[in-house]
Amino acid sequence: MGICWSSASVNQSPPTTGQLSSVGVSQNTSNTTSTSGSTVSGNSRFSAASGSDSPSTVAGQMLPHPNLRIFSFSELKASTRNFRSDTVLGEGGFGKVYKGWLDEKSNTARNGSGSVVAVKKLNSESLQGLQEWQSEVNFLGRLSHPNLVKLLGYCWEDTELLLVYEFMQKGSLENHLFGRGSSVQPLPWETRLKIIIGAARGLAFLHESDRKVIYRDFKASNILLDGSYHAKLSDFGLAKMGPTASRSHVTTQVMGTYGYAAPEYVATGHLYVKSDVYGFGVVLVEILTGLRALDPNRPSGQHNLVEWIKPHLYDKRKLKNIMDIRLEGRYPSRSALQISRLALTCVEKEPKNRPSMKEIVETLERIDSANEKLRQPRVHSSYQAVNRRGQQPMQNRSPLHLRQEDLHRAAYPLPQRV
Ligand SMILES: Nc1ncnc2c1ncn2[C@@H]1O[C@H](COP(=O)(O)OP(=O)(O)OP(=O)(O)O)[C@@H](O)[C@H]1O
Ligand SMILES: [Mg+2]
Repeated sequence: MGICWSSASVNQSPPTTGQLSSVGVSQNTSNTTSTSGSTVSGNSRFSAASGSDSPSTVAGQMLPHPNLRIFSFSELKASTRNFRSDTVLGEGGFGKVYKGWLDEKSNTARNGSGSVVAVKKLNSESLQGLQEWQSEVNFLGRLSHPNLVKLLGYCWEDTELLLVYEFMQKGSLENHLFGRGSSVQPLPWETRLKIIIGAARGLAFLHESDRKVIYRDFKASNILLDGSYHAKLSDFGLAKMGPTASRSHVTTQVMGTYGYAAPEYVATGHLYVKSDVYGFGVVLVEILTGLRALDPNRPSGQHNLVEWIKPHLYDKRKLKNIMDIRLEGRYPSRSALQISRLALTCVEKEPKNRPSMKEIVETLERIDSANEKLRQPRVHSSYQAVNRRGQQPMQNRSPLHLRQEDLHRAAYPLPQRV
């Protein structure tokens, strides 16, 4: 029998400074400036739930301790039919994610019956695995909000580390924006708006807490979708407690995903709450254009989406030329322009010039309700304009399957600029 964490052993505050004493692993974070003494108060109910009139402020909660079920390895093995390849839902830097079936009564799995879950299994080659696993358990195990994916439990036996989540039927936003094949239908404009509002609410909830949580890995692959395209944030492996009131940032080893990580963070290791807002802006641009944040297959000068597209986001005419061709012009141009201008503010160089997530949610909700009134789909000439300009058809851009060059997308330590 291997080591299985008891509830007690994970009942610690989310890792904030240095040592994770229960397993004797030290984090690679310096955190010197502002996280000292940054424990999360026992019953801190997130203030996002109260004190605001905004419809965006849906109740959420942070529990004092992770409230998780401990699974045995054999149970999860059976639930995924021995981690069979046809149950694989996807793969990231941590390892493969499998679809599993749990029979609640007997605690054993029956193929194709029982409740459906997603089981993430640590890849033995993953360098950041243990720390990310602990962070996930300590953050996501305690956070509860309609726009955060539910972590149901975990397993740690010998070298096996696994996480068990609610199953998100429609997979990730990344699949829908960049996937190809007959099973991937282009997302209509209204669905894109719904998804980004949900994701914004999840992030706003984290930022509006008494002690702010910095998510640090906002990207399309971490936005998961249920059967109704209700968005939930997943992956808290890189999450960090925000700075204390007297500080503007925490200092930490630079981790994240190229293309989404905020420039000030990559350059200095200074992580602001508003560093998340930069990543949010990048996803807004991906949603508008249907192009990946970073794609080394694009011509030089176009690898970094935001740097390349920025000059097109100010102007209605220019915007039309870069909108996702899979929308086929079916979107209200006014809303698209409002969103692109919002994206521009999110990717401002100076963190303090970026809007807060609360402001972003309010703006998106205003755009959405104005959109409601114009539900009639309108076809713009932009579709033809894009094709005239010779933009490549979608199937030649950004295939989803894992290629060698896609490995850069996984979250990993980013080298600092000198
Ligand atoms: N709860 C879930 N329900 C359904 N599918 C899931 C779930 N969690 C993950 N997946 C699928 O597994 C894929 C891999 O997820 P994972 O979080 O491991 O990696 P990633 O986000 O793509 O990359 P990274 O490791 O850089 O975060 C996702 O893109 C998604 O398709
Ligand atoms: Mg992920």
